[in-house]
Amino acid sequence: MKRTLGVCYYPEHWDEEIWPQDAARMVDARLSWVRIGEFAWSRLEPQAGQYEFDWLDRAINVLGQAGLRIILGTPTATPPRWMADKHPDMFAVDAQGHPRGFGSRRHYCFSHQGYRAESRRITELLAKRYGANPHIAAWQTDNEYGCHDTTLSYSEAARDGFRDWLAQKYQSPDALNRAWGNVFWSMEYNDFNEIDLPNLTVTEPNPAHVMDFRRYSSDQVVAFNREQANILRAHSDAPLVHNYMGRVTEFDHHAVGHDLDIASWDSYPLGFLEDRMEDEADHKRTYAQQGDPDFQAFHHDLYRGVGRGRWWVMEQQPGPVNWAPVNPAPLPGMCRLWAWEAFAHGAETVCFFRWRQAPFAQEQMHAGLLRPDSVDAPALAEAFEVAKELADAPDVKMDKAPVALVFDYPSAWAWDVQPQGRSFDYFRLVFETYRGLRKLGLDIDILPLDTDFAGYKLILAPGVFHATEAQIAAMIESGAQCLFGPRFNSKTADFSIPNPLPPGIPGLGVTVSHVESFRADMPRALSDGGAAQHWLEALEHQAETVLQTEDGAPVLLRTGRISYLGGWLDEHGLARVLNQLCADADLETQEMPEGVRQRHAGAERFIFNYAAEQRNFEGHDLPPAGVVRD
Ligand code: GAL
Repeated sequence: MKRTLGVCYYPEHWDEEIWPQDAARMVDARLSWVRIGEFAWSRLEPQAGQYEFDWLDRAINVLGQAGLRIILGTPTATPPRWMADKHPDMFAVDAQGHPRGFGSRRHYCFSHQGYRAESRRITELLAKRYGANPHIAAWQTDNEYGCHDTTLSYSEAARDGFRDWLAQKYQSPDALNRAWGNVFWSMEYNDFNEIDLPNLTVTEPNPAHVMDFRRYSSDQVVAFNREQANILRAHSDAPLVHNYMGRVTEFDHHAVGHDLDIASWDSYPLGFLEDRMEDEADHKRTYAQQGDPDFQAFHHDLYRGVGRGRWWVMEQQPGPVNWAPVNPAPLPGMCRLWAWEAFAHGAETVCFFRWRQAPFAQEQMHAGLLRPDSVDAPALAEAFEVAKELADAPDVKMDKAPVALVFDYPSAWAWDVQPQGRSFDYFRLVFETYRGLRKLGLDIDILPLDTDFAGYKLILAPGVFHATEAQIAAMIESGAQCLFGPRFNSKTADFSIPNPLPPGIPGLGVTVSHVESFRADMPRALSDGGAAQHWLEALEHQAETVLQTEDGAPVLLRTGRISYLGGWLDEHGLARVLNQLCADADLETQEMPEGVRQRHAGAERFIFNYAAEQRNFEGHDLPPAGVVRD
C-alpha cells in the first residue's frame, strides 16, 4: 500500500484566477489528493432546478490537470435556503420539539422523504456528470453524519417512519406491548398509529421504546447513505468513502461502512481533548498542545474496523481550530506526528483540513495550511516533511493485531437510555480499556460484535448490553483469552432483564445477582491495590476468584480461558486485570512511559512522544512530538 497526503479545498470560496496557483502549490507540497464540493450546493443549484455546474467542471479540470486526484463530495450536508421553502418540514426537530433552523449546516431530518428525494436527485446529477471523469478518484457521501447532534430528530416525518418501522418489526401491537412490557404504567397500545416518539414525556419513557427509536434513527442514516452509494456506484467505479467524526456513537458506523469502500474520519486532536473528553483538568493541561495520547489511535483502530481494513484521515487538524472551549496551537511537530500516527495504524491517506484559512463566516478563526493572505502557515512545512519522509518509506501491509476489543454501537445507545448511574458512559468504558492496553504497548483491533475472532490471543468485550449465543460462541471458540463484563449481556434484545440472570456465558459459572452504581468520590478498594469506581456487581459463582474487594467480594472471576469482570475499575485496578490476562494469553507487554505510545505496522514499529518533555524509551531519545520509525 502506497501512503499519500491530501488537502480539503473549497474552490467556490476563491477567485477562479487563483485556482491554478493553488493547484500548483499543492502539487509542489507533494499533496496527492484534493477533496472538494461537499458544501457547494447553493453554487451548484442556486435556485430549485437551475443548475450551474460549469464552475465545478473548470475547477475539476484545473486541479486534475495539475496532477491531483479528486475526492468529490455530495453536498447534502448543506441544503440551500430555497429548499426550506420547497420542504418547510424538512428540518430536524430537537427533543424539546423545536425545529433546527437554517443558517449553518446539517439541518435536515434523515426521515424526511422529500429531502431524501432531493439527496438522491443531486447525487444522481453529480454521478452522471462526473462518474466517468478520470480526475474523480473517490467520492465522499455527505459530510460527518451525526455531527452537531443530528442523528436523532423528533419530527413528524420521524414519527411516521418510526411507526412503519415498528409495524414491520413487531407485526402486531400485542407483540410490541409484550416486547416492551407496556402493561407497566398502562402504556399499552391498540394501534401502531398511537405510538409517539419518546420525547416530551412527563418522566422517563420506557427504555425499550427509546432503544427502538435509537435503532430506527440509526437505520435512517444507513438508508440515507445507501441511497447515495447505490446511485454513485451505478455511474462510477471510484471508491466511496464517508468522513466520520470523533466520539459520535448515535448511529451504527459498522452498518454504514458496509455500503462504502473506505472509512475515513476527521481528526482534531486538540479540539477533541478540550471538547469531547471528560473534564480532567490536569490531563487537559498536560496534553493541551499535543492532544490525548490515545484518542486519535482509538479512532484509527475503530475506523480501520469500520472500513474493513481500508481507512483514511479525511480531515487533519492543521493548527488552532475555532470550535472548542479554548483553541491552542499544536506544539511544533505535532501535525507531523499525527500524520505518522495515522499511517502507523494503517491509514492509506491523510488529508489536511483545509488548504487556505477562510477570512469569512463561521470558521474564519480555523487555521489552514495557508494563512488567509496565502502565506504558508506552519502546518504546510510539516505536511511537506511528511511527504518527503513518505517518499522513502516502504510500502506497508497491516497485520492483524493480537488483541481484539469489541465496540458495539447499540451498547452505547442502551447505556445512554438507561445508565443506572450517570457516569456509566459506554464510549468512556471502552476507551479506558483501550488506554490500559496501549499503556502496555499492545496493538489493538477494534471490532464489531459480528466478527470472525479466529487468530486473536485476547478478546475484550466490556459493557456489551446484549450478545447472541452465536456471538458469544464465536469469541469463546476462537481459542483466545476472553474478558467479558462489566454489564455484559445484561439485557435481552428487547431491553429487559434476562432469566436466567446475566451474563449467560456458557461454562463460566457466574451469575450477576444485583448491581450498584456509586459516586465517583466513593470508590470501593480492591485488596492489594486499585479500586472499583462508578459500578460494581454482586457475583454468585463457581469460578476461580482472581481479584476481590477489600471486603472479600469477587470482582474478577475466571474459568479456564474465560474471565468475567464485575466492575468498572480505576487505572490501577484495570492494569492489574490486563497484566493478568496478557500473562495468561502469552502476550508480551511493555510499560510505556507517560505520554509515549507505540504501534507496529507490518515490519515497522513506530514510537510517538505525546509528552511535552523529552522521553527516553528503549534507548531512543524522544523530544516532544518525537516520532521514531524502526
Ligand atoms: C469538521 C467538518 C469541516 C470543518 C471542520 C472544522 O468537523 O467536517 O467541515 O467544519 O470540522 O474543524
